[in-house]
Amino acid sequence: MRIPFIAGNWKMNMSGRDAVEFAEQFKALYKNTDVRTAICAPYVHLELLVEAFDGTDIKVGAENAHWEDSGAYTGEVSVPMLEEIGVDYCIIGHSERRQYFNETDETVNLKLKKLFTSSILPILCVGEVLEEREAGKEKEIVGGQLKKDLEGLTADNVRKLVIAYEPVWAIGTGKTATPEQANEMCGFIRDVITDLYDEDVADEVIIQYGGSMNPENATELMNQPEIDGGLIGGASLSAEKFMKVIDF
Ligand code: PGA
Repeated sequence: MRIPFIAGNWKMNMSGRDAVEFAEQFKALYKNTDVRTAICAPYVHLELLVEAFDGTDIKVGAENAHWEDSGAYTGEVSVPMLEEIGVDYCIIGHSERRQYFNETDETVNLKLKKLFTSSILPILCVGEVLEEREAGKEKEIVGGQLKKDLEGLTADNVRKLVIAYEPVWAIGTGKTATPEQANEMCGFIRDVITDLYDEDVADEVIIQYGGSMNPENATELMNQPEIDGGLIGGASLSAEKFMKVIDF
């Protein structure tokens, strides 16, 4: 049985004051559901969120991490640094990092390998851009990303992995994939995991959908058999909206 997992992705949003306010509101609204939940936030807010959510079921995630433990990498943050402040998850390979910050499948792979030496679980993002979807290449693209991103990871690693299928054309555009499209691609990802590992591993891996998921479309998306959760951008900036998605 896969436990649904809904994570927020604040991206480069929210001031410190906004983050404190969100945490207070969200804690007040939060009710225990059968859904795992986390907020992934900019580095500077992580410590305050870990403290604010201490003693609750709400987990905290980072949005990126470097693959080395330490060294001359100005501006970067390492996995041990995140571990030290009590972070539970880390998004890796988000399309915005692939698009604007030179993230490649090779660096994604290094980051995943590093995270699996720590207590922090990765949320690996994959997805095709609009031209690839229009050319009917979405499976080729996503399958290719997965093969490279997961290279050298063990079955035990992948069992604990969270994969977010995020069609780039649906991110922040208000254009959601239809529940059928999203379900088909999440099912395809599970098939790729079966091919690379086995059915047992594929049955355990949590696959989220991400891309303009919100309180209005969450129920329909979450009711799809292959969709185990969501990675929520815009709608996670409001405690009320985010709670409504969790309470789909
Ligand atoms: P969105 O972002 O919900 O604002 O489309 C999702 C994401 O990028 O993770």
